[in-house]
Amino acid sequence: MVLSTGTNKIKTAVFISGTGSNLKSLIKFSKLKKSPISINLIFTNNKLAKGLKYGEIFKIKKKIINYQNKEIAEKKILNELEKNKIELVCLAGFMKILSKKFIKNFKGKILNIHPSLLPKYKGLNTHERAIENKDIYSGCTVHFVNSKLDSGKIILQKKVNILKKDTPNTLGKRILVQEHKLYPKAILKIFSL
Ligand code: GAR
Repeated sequence: MVLSTGTNKIKTAVFISGTGSNLKSLIKFSKLKKSPISINLIFTNNKLAKGLKYGEIFKIKKKIINYQNKEIAEKKILNELEKNKIELVCLAGFMKILSKKFIKNFKGKILNIHPSLLPKYKGLNTHERAIENKDIYSGCTVHFVNSKLDSGKIILQKKVNILKKDTPNTLGKRILVQEHKLYPKAILKIFSL
């Protein structure tokens, strides 16, 4: 495995709200020579987010943002993004909806990973809905963020078969394994010439 020092890479901030397994996979990817990005900042709206531990493990700056007032929260985030010269935002299990104004300020530079094959199952409880509808497969999507929820241009998707015995939990776990591969692939796709 060839590691790089992170100089000259696209400075990236990852936004999380929970476990942060996608954050972990992005950090590991960012350390590969072939990665166009470095992870310089982690944001969360949740001070108890388990994923914050990756900030400590990998020595990445973390910012916990109080979201009681969304406008103030987003101003603080934009300010930090500017201060740290962040060029790309990766949403990875960030459970707050960014305002149109915020997205406009960072237009074309925000990515999201979603646990369904968009445009199917925007929003929450994607695995429950796929199983309830007796779909034979579901999956995950990496897309650009625009002002409509889970509706921006799709970069890559990965299908995952739904098994008869699947619960939302077992399906979600199998999809998450694919998410960890899909996010880096999508980043390579958009930044390869
Ligand atoms: C992932 O499955 C991600 O796709 C989903 O939350 C999970 C976060 O897991 N995101 C959304 O539902 C966004 N609407 P992680 O914290 O272990 O990366």
